[in-house]
Amino acid sequence: MSRYLIAYATKYGTTARAVDLIRNNLAGAITCNLKKEHCPDLENFDWVIIGGSIYAGRVQKEVKKFCQKNRNLLLQKKVGLFICCMYDGQKAEEQFNEAFPQELRQAARAKAIFGGELSFEKMNFLEKFIIKKFIGVKESFSRFRPDEISEFSRKLSD
Ligand SMILES: Cc1cc2nc3c(=O)[nH]c(=O)nc-3n(C[C@H](O)[C@H](O)[C@H](O)COP(=O)(O)O)c2cc1C
Repeated sequence: MSRYLIAYATKYGTTARAVDLIRNNLAGAITCNLKKEHCPDLENFDWVIIGGSIYAGRVQKEVKKFCQKNRNLLLQKKVGLFICCMYDGQKAEEQFNEAFPQELRQAARAKAIFGGELSFEKMNFLEKFIIKKFIGVKESFSRFRPDEISEFSRKLSD
């Protein structure tokens, strides 16, 4: 049976929600919140799944650092990569490409963009201002796509 590690960063919980759904599909998967925990040794896993969310066009620095620090090991593993974000289409693709190093993207066996959620009740004043002014959205809404997660999880076998 394959051993899975899911390393992720989240601010308001969308990415954590995605991680829970992925974990439900992978028996015995271990999760690691990169903002709060040290990850276990990657040597102990067959698969490493890495996910984060996008703020002002960029993924969390913890995700970037994790990829840089573990570059050599990750290139020897089976890897899955995903982001959560509000944009879709080409803009989302660009954000995905910015989030992960090219060599890791090329080596990855599964890649996905799961969409995101904007929850005004969770945002601080500045964030609400930015979202209203630059994205033109005034109410909470969701573009989160659990169906994409099922598709992604299917690629994480063998
Ligand atoms: C201040 C702010 C900036 C954001 N900037 C972007 C952005 O540049 N591109 C994008 O696609 N989504 C953007 N988003 C949407 C987030 O990626 C989305 O809310 C996501 O679900 C957050 O996931 P998390 O709760 O796991 O951190 C932004 C959200 C906030 C609150």
